Amino acid sequence: MEKQNSSICDILNIKYPIIMAPMFLVSNIEMLVAASKSGITGAIPALNFRTIEEFEIALKELKEKCEGPFGINLIVNKSNFLYKEQLTACCKHKVDYIITSLGSPEETINQAHKAGVKVFCDVTDLAYAKKVEALGADALIAVNKEAGGHAGNLSYKELIPLLIENCNIPVISAGGVGNHEQMKQILDLGAAGLSIGSLFIASSESGVSQDYKEACVNYGAKDIVFTTKLSGSRCTVIKTPYVEKIGTDQNFLEKILNKNKQLKKWFKAFTFYKGMKNLQNAAFGATYKTVWCAGPTIEYVKEIKPINDIVKSLVNG
Ligand SMILES: Cc1cc2nc3c(=O)[nH]c(=O)nc-3n(C[C@H](O)[C@H](O)[C@H](O)COP(=O)(O)O)c2cc1C
Repeated sequence: MEKQNSSICDILNIKYPIIMAPMFLVSNIEMLVAASKSGITGAIPALNFRTIEEFEIALKELKEKCEGPFGINLIVNKSNFLYKEQLTACCKHKVDYIITSLGSPEETINQAHKAGVKVFCDVTDLAYAKKVEALGADALIAVNKEAGGHAGNLSYKELIPLLIENCNIPVISAGGVGNHEQMKQILDLGAAGLSIGSLFIASSESGVSQDYKEACVNYGAKDIVFTTKLSGSRCTVIKTPYVEKIGTDQNFLEKILNKNKQLKKWFKAFTFYKGMKNLQNAAFGATYKTVWCAGPTIEYVKEIKPINDIVKSLVNG
């Protein structure tokens, strides 16, 4: 098969090869509109809307206000009870692209393609990349170990060449881009584009609390730690005094419950629910339980500024 290494600028018809990455709780409509006006594209997790009704209203608003393409992130595993309805809504409203994470994207790809919607799949290794390519994915989002959120295990230097060499669809790199030089290095490796999240948390348009934004300004790469306390899977958070106090590993009892055949399913759901509630409270309100998700690139966040300025400094240096 012929290699398709087109830039996402051509695939999505945007000026700069950047996706403002989907971020649970953080991404909002205003950010996606600002991204589209800045020459990039933004994506938002469907889970940022509590009900299908709210989600559909948001899709209509995005269609109306964005000056370019926008994407929706779907969690495609069983933990997402709204998955089927979210997928149907994405197809009905013909979003420009879907980013799948956590689970098999087979059904998403089949349905989305029938509606003319592109599907980009999060991958962290070659085996999974080959699998989604065979299922018909339009591009890979290569999540590396420098990424914020649920990071991968390989560095971008390992992951990008590995996927480009062995796969035939465009490879978009996710993680670890904080400035123009880093962006250039990854594009020079042949990446079709970049998916950038943490840099945009402290944007003027983001609806998270001032404390969360200021934490992104004041903390740096050395303050980012992995925790399994939130969802059971490793996720990057800022090491605030609260995170330090509760620790980043599940305790002895939690580990036992996680392994117990009968209780594991319920315990995982409980951990997930509790973790998400803590994240939500910390993202929007004043709480001493400061659990803020962010990646090491907050090192490069020096002030709270509009998305257009963040994009300008990324593309111009
Ligand atoms: C606060 C936060 C929330 C995130 N939420 C999601 C999510 O809901 N779904 C998803 O696929 N990825 C999520 N990610 C990962 C991003 O989409 C993206 O892969 C990552 O931010 C790229 O790394 P960077 O932060 O170094 O730019 C999240 C990342 C952050 C920092």
